[in-house]
Amino acid sequence: MLNKLLFHRFPNLKSLLTRVQYEFISALNLKRDVLFMNFGYTDHHEGREPIRLDVDDELHRYPLQLYHHVARHADWTNANALEVSSGRGGGASYIMRRFKPRSYVGVDFSTRAIEFCRSHHKIEGLSFEHGNAEDLKFPDETFDIVLNVEASLYYPNLDKFLGHVKRVLKPGGYFLYTDLRYEEKVDEWHKQLKDIGLKLIKEEDITDNVLAALEMDRARRIHLVDTYIPAILREQFYHFAGLKANTPGGNLHLEHRRYWVFVMQKA
Ligand SMILES: C[S@@+](CC[C@H](N)C(=O)[O-])C[C@H]1O[C@@H](n2cnc3c(N)ncnc32)[C@H](O)[C@@H]1O
Repeated sequence: MLNKLLFHRFPNLKSLLTRVQYEFISALNLKRDVLFMNFGYTDHHEGREPIRLDVDDELHRYPLQLYHHVARHADWTNANALEVSSGRGGGASYIMRRFKPRSYVGVDFSTRAIEFCRSHHKIEGLSFEHGNAEDLKFPDETFDIVLNVEASLYYPNLDKFLGHVKRVLKPGGYFLYTDLRYEEKVDEWHKQLKDIGLKLIKEEDITDNVLAALEMDRARRIHLVDTYIPAILREQFYHFAGLKANTPGGNLHLEHRRYWVFVMQKA
């Protein structure tokens, strides 16, 4: 409830608290078992074959599958790509290894997350820069692909971010985007996206896939919170990890939020 009030009424305060929260997370001395911070995706329950993963990636299967599901909609060959809000860099590393773009820059406003990424993901062509989604410093028409995964809900002004996405994309470039919104805000969100003037190639409600992934990944998520978070803060972080604050083993939900994927292209 408080969360919802902050999201809707005080977006700048929400953004500040988000920054404090992510800097706190990065200060926890998390290890390589935390490379992603999204709710995950699965379509195994719909009868699809799970993607094949390297042994080291298997631990991160569900959050990694969210990246895979979004990324597979564009051709990454020779692409120069930008990820806005790359977090702890797990998605960036996976996409570099799996889809092999020419270059990939991850940007995040958490300085500690950027330091972590620089020291943990050393792949030729992959780099990380500190920056704000609403004030991207790249020149016009720099990127073939811009990717954004479960982060724009924290931006106080989504239009500013979308304006930068359109500006930094080359003509023909793709915006691959996934996030969630409270049910009553979904129509407004769709309208905002249509208004930026990119061609909508695909939109998909993946809420059920995200909930199924949370269920399959539940034990790992509880374990991570119990391992890294001091007992006094655990309730808050169970919630952050997509679990019910008081009963992390109970029914899962996204607090009446819907999770969507959008694939858009600049004319
Ligand atoms: C839920 S995490 C997702 C991280 C990553 N995309 C993933 O899926 O693992 C949200 C990320 O958005 C970043 N973030 C929030 N507001 C931002 C802003 N205004 N500019 C840049 N990054 C921001 C946070 O620091 C955090 O790393």
